[in-house]
Amino acid sequence: DMAVVAREGSHLIKKHREQKERKKAMHKDWELAGSKMGQVLGVKSKDDEEEREDDETNFKANSQFKVHLDKQKAEGSSNFSRTKSIKEQREYLPIYASRADLCQLIRENSVVVIVGETGSGKTTQLVQYLMEEGYGERGMIGCTQPRRVAAMSVAKRVSDEIGVELGQEVGYAIRFEDCTSKKTVIKYMTDGILLRETLRESDVDHYSCIVMDEAHERSLNTDVLFGILRDVVARRNDLKLIVTSATMDAGKFSDFFGGVPIYNIPGRTFPVDVLWAKSTVEDYVESAVKQALQVHLSMDEGDILIFMPGQEAIEVTCDEIRTRLDEVDESPALALLPIYSQLPSDLQSKIFEKAPEGCRKCVVATNIAETSLTLDGIKYVIDAGYCKLKVFNPKIGMDSLQVYPISQANANQRSGRAGRTGAGTAFRLYTLSQYKSEMLLTTVPEIQRTNLSNVVLLLKSLNVDDLLKFHFMDPPPQDNMLNSMYSLWILNAMDNTGKLTDKGRLMVEFPMDPAMSKMLITSCDMNCSEEMLTIVSMLSVPTIFFRPRGREEDADTMREKFNVPESDHMTYLNVYTQWKKNGYKDSWATKHFIHAKAMRKVREVRSQLKEIMDSQKLKLVSCGAAWDIVRKCICAAYFHAAAKLKGLSEYVNIRTGMPCHLHPTSALYGMGYASDYVVYHELIMTSKEFMHVATAVEGEWLAELGPMFYSIKKSSKSRREAADKTMSNLEAMDAQFHKDKELMEKRRIAE
Ligand code: CDP
Ligand code: MG
Repeated sequence: DMAVVAREGSHLIKKHREQKERKKAMHKDWELAGSKMGQVLGVKSKDDEEEREDDETNFKANSQFKVHLDKQKAEGSSNFSRTKSIKEQREYLPIYASRADLCQLIRENSVVVIVGETGSGKTTQLVQYLMEEGYGERGMIGCTQPRRVAAMSVAKRVSDEIGVELGQEVGYAIRFEDCTSKKTVIKYMTDGILLRETLRESDVDHYSCIVMDEAHERSLNTDVLFGILRDVVARRNDLKLIVTSATMDAGKFSDFFGGVPIYNIPGRTFPVDVLWAKSTVEDYVESAVKQALQVHLSMDEGDILIFMPGQEAIEVTCDEIRTRLDEVDESPALALLPIYSQLPSDLQSKIFEKAPEGCRKCVVATNIAETSLTLDGIKYVIDAGYCKLKVFNPKIGMDSLQVYPISQANANQRSGRAGRTGAGTAFRLYTLSQYKSEMLLTTVPEIQRTNLSNVVLLLKSLNVDDLLKFHFMDPPPQDNMLNSMYSLWILNAMDNTGKLTDKGRLMVEFPMDPAMSKMLITSCDMNCSEEMLTIVSMLSVPTIFFRPRGREEDADTMREKFNVPESDHMTYLNVYTQWKKNGYKDSWATKHFIHAKAMRKVREVRSQLKEIMDSQKLKLVSCGAAWDIVRKCICAAYFHAAAKLKGLSEYVNIRTGMPCHLHPTSALYGMGYASDYVVYHELIMTSKEFMHVATAVEGEWLAELGPMFYSIKKSSKSRREAADKTMSNLEAMDAQFHKDKELMEKRRIAE
């Protein structure tokens, strides 16, 4: 099956992973053997210290390019000519010719669907037209994006076009980051933000217009917003709702709103030669690297855009291209620019900058560059044919991100990126027959493939009692809905009758996964909320530790100093506590191989979550040195993700028997502290199933806190012995699990 092929599809990725893991593992072994390696490697020179700034950013752009760009900026054209050229740019966009028609259509209709090729100006221009038409005087003009990166970068672009400071008249809001002010008229935001806003303000009264951008992506939150806003436009006839799509299948959106008008922006596209792989590609990274080099070394000027499934593949691709290019004598300049959602935002904006004379730009991207970000000057597209999708995995009872073949619609969007500013070429690293037989026409909407507990929680708190009656454009499969309701029930967010509990109501207040919210709320009852607030904040930020190239061992040694041997969660707590003790200093973080920026973000998230806690009268209490209670509290929210020790750093999920491994970077890994039971935050599938962020727990806790799953088996031995042995006697109550689920189903049907 393709998904599996894709997962192991690149020997290059595998090689990089293995090297990384072997290094980590080896290093740990040496430590255990009492080697002085750590000390030897711990010596640092001043030079290293300076190098780190760059390393920390993980950015590997050609330095020549960077210098040149800075120079360009310094020489910066006057403000006037800048605005002028921006004006010209705006008027050159395909949407400009349709402006009058569009504005009239919007005036005459509450809901309009607009279709236009990527780059026609939908995202950047529509909101400006609306503002210029005066809609901004009656309320804000909101524009939703399925991706954070798009929301941020487009807001920046539009604030530049208008000539105002970002965060003033033009701003953006993403989770834990609100860059708007009282003055804000144009607000870009993720669809998740607007969805949460409907909780407070069900008629979205602050907005005069809402543009639901990138509707073709069919993200979970956009799909739910569709259902909610459909009712809002029926109640508010002063609200303008504009749905935009980059693909032609807009009829569905129009039908959903009762047959509203569709406007097609006449496109301006250039021919793209589509070239297919002649035979099945064994290794898409290898193949993409070769193709990129061939284009760079032998083809006409023009930038390259490579599509890869995720961050890891992007990094490996960049590394390989750079390494192989270095081996070529006098190779022409190439600026390699990665782009993926976790890339720091200042580096993300680099992809929009024009490469200097004589330097070719090569952007290596996830499907983020498919329709949400428009890059000018791309002439060559190299498409690996894969993307990462979040899919509910019944084997582990959670969503997991996995690599899947893209759909035909994705493939065509990707190729199209080569023909925006001139004729181009698309190299597809898959065969025509694979395209025809193995790729779906369009991607399955997220609502039909992921866990919906967040959505269920949200809709329930919006008093949508019968979820099956909610107006979904494509209703989620009953199984998904049921699984989600079940996972809310085990978290005690919902009762047997499907009503939200008090705890469930509280959980909705926090912009996090239900289990995380539950952990935080429970910590107030268990008197360790001060600690848990920190842990939850640390878990809400992507990467805390960094391992600069060439100094991996130093970084690992440093990291180990923070380890709390029984818990990765507590290790995070320890890092934050130390950072706080050292005055929240950047320099302290950097010195300890910790991302200073990430830590500042953690602090910010923490204070935002604290505000929510205050507003809900949830008290901050510290447990002092009694850290066991913190572990128990983690167990109270994550008992559904519990695993039992099986071998050296090898566990199996108690309920499903699925193997899960401690990651070599885990504090629990090879530390001689082999706990019989652990709970984990999430499972990450790379070369194996790794538990990401694990904590040792007691068997009794699992039985006490997760009685629907676990019970303590009474053995024939004496009671006292049995008590000692509870751990190995803990058994999963799978039969019970299914019975509960059936019961819920019956109830739901009876409702
Ligand atoms: O949304 P749509 O794909 O229709 O187009 P858009 O994102 O509004 O892009 C219109 C133009 O703005 C393109 O030519 C982009 O290159 C430019 N743009 C930019 O230079 N920087 C950004 N961050 C976003 C757009
Ligand atoms: Mg757009």
